Amino acid sequence: MAFTVKMAIAAMEKFNAVIEEKKEYLTDLDSAIGDADHGINMNRGMKRIMEKVRGKEYADFGGIFRDVAMTIMSVVGGSAGPLYGTFFMKFGQKLGTKSEASAGEMADALQEGLAGVMSLGKSAPGDKTMVDSLEPALRALKESADGDEAAAWNKAVAEAEKGVEATIPMLARRGRSSYLGERSIGHQDPGATSSLYLISCFRDAFLEG
Ligand SMILES: Nc1ncnc2c1ncn2[C@@H]1O[C@H](COP(=O)(O)OP(=O)(O)O)[C@@H](O)[C@H]1O
Ligand SMILES: [Mg+2]
Repeated sequence: MAFTVKMAIAAMEKFNAVIEEKKEYLTDLDSAIGDADHGINMNRGMKRIMEKVRGKEYADFGGIFRDVAMTIMSVVGGSAGPLYGTFFMKFGQKLGTKSEASAGEMADALQEGLAGVMSLGKSAPGDKTMVDSLEPALRALKESADGDEAAAWNKAVAEAEKGVEATIPMLARRGRSSYLGERSIGHQDPGATSSLYLISCFRDAFLEG
């Protein structure tokens, strides 16, 4: 079974719902090591994205993720808007005019998105950011993409969960939390957490078909 544009729209719909449900939690995480707005930022962005995307016809991944990227960049300030915007833009550009993608193609395109985040954020694994859930998740998706695709997506989500846990003992080296130095240790990164939700929404949309 291929990943389709319809699944991509469903994934965005799910991500919007999860962010709505978890906005206080994400904001609580950000209040410990940031400025208590990550849930609010993501909620505002995803709401506006769905207002734009819902009911529109998209022929390809490039089209929908251009709208997703442009909207989140224009609505969300701070770090998350440009970082998620770049992620979705590079991801969509890599898939371009495709309307279906295998798990391997999805992994490659999502990895382009991640490369965009790392380049814009000057961040690497271990810096205590969204990179720490995305990188292991997408590596697992890529490595297991040639077998059972549902299993590959499940593996990706499991690795993202571990990645989020792994941010707790990390010292923040990028973004607002890095201003805290040693005091950032012992707290879970909000952006890594929202990125886990994103990967799990892609997985759920794929499994539901
Ligand atoms: N340079 C960076 N590279 C990658 N991710 C980053 C970077 N700076 C911040 N982030 C991510 O953004 C999240 C914070 O998002 P948010 O609170 O919405 O923005 P802000 O930090 O501007 O308030 C962090 O938890 C982290 O995961
Ligand atoms: Mg913040």
